[in-house]
Amino acid sequence: MNESFARVAGEIAREAGQFLKHFSDHHKLAVEHKGSGFDFVTNADRESQRLVQQRLKAAFPEHRFVGEEDGLSDAQVATLLGGGDWCWVCDPLDGTVNYIHHLGLYAVSVGLVRRGQSVAGAIYLPEWDELFTAQRGAGAFMNGQPIHASACQDLRQAFVTADIAASNPTLREPNLERLRRAGMAVGGLRVEGSACVCIAQTACGRQDAYWNQGLHAWDVAAGIVIAEEAGCRVTNIFSEPFSFDMADGFLCTAPGLDGAFRPHITRA
Ligand code: IPD
Ligand code: CA
Ligand code: CA
Repeated sequence: MNESFARVAGEIAREAGQFLKHFSDHHKLAVEHKGSGFDFVTNADRESQRLVQQRLKAAFPEHRFVGEEDGLSDAQVATLLGGGDWCWVCDPLDGTVNYIHHLGLYAVSVGLVRRGQSVAGAIYLPEWDELFTAQRGAGAFMNGQPIHASACQDLRQAFVTADIAASNPTLREPNLERLRRAGMAVGGLRVEGSACVCIAQTACGRQDAYWNQGLHAWDVAAGIVIAEEAGCRVTNIFSEPFSFDMADGFLCTAPGLDGAFRPHITRA
């Protein structure tokens, strides 16, 4: 595999993230509702995606691209990712609601998928200047230093994050029930509002697990390879094999917690 995929993804994610940070300080955000529920898009999301897409097209003109703001359904994206060759998958601003409220928990995610497998990616956290990168088989890094999942093996000691998928009203109730049940079993539980931030924190061992039903391919395309290369286990929320159709969500855990959520996160 071309060794530079993760490096280029990292450079582009950093550039887009620096753009977002600057934009929030110096420009007026135009906030729009996307569909129903608690789902928003801003001019910053759109500009960030434009920048990422332009840079990727210049670097890899033969590769395909899909970004959140293209508005494709999960099924359309899964079909795109299942077939064909290299496809970049971008969340130009993950944590839009946090960003709107000037809360620093947001990120840019740029992932490369080949025949249904996440093979390289970068997640950049502009407010911390932390760049997470990985390429399949070559390890995971934060600002160039190797990162590893935590050694946690006991759910009662585990510090975890999760989410309620606020933008999807039908998933709120089952997700809240899972939060309640799993929340009784773990040591600490937080809801932070950015999947990419939470996956990156799990990959580098600051926290021990993250799960969410209601995510999309662009939320996880980079995170999967970063988490797996750091030693995490990636599955759906029921500890079964992960699928880019996203129907059963996403769970990543420290390796010692593999399967530990199964009794607590059950089908609704
Ligand atoms: C959202 C965030 C949030 C998660 C939602 C995502 P966005 O992404 O990652 O934490 O709960 O399901 O859609 O809309 O800010 O890119
Ligand atoms: Ca997102
Ligand atoms: Ca987004």
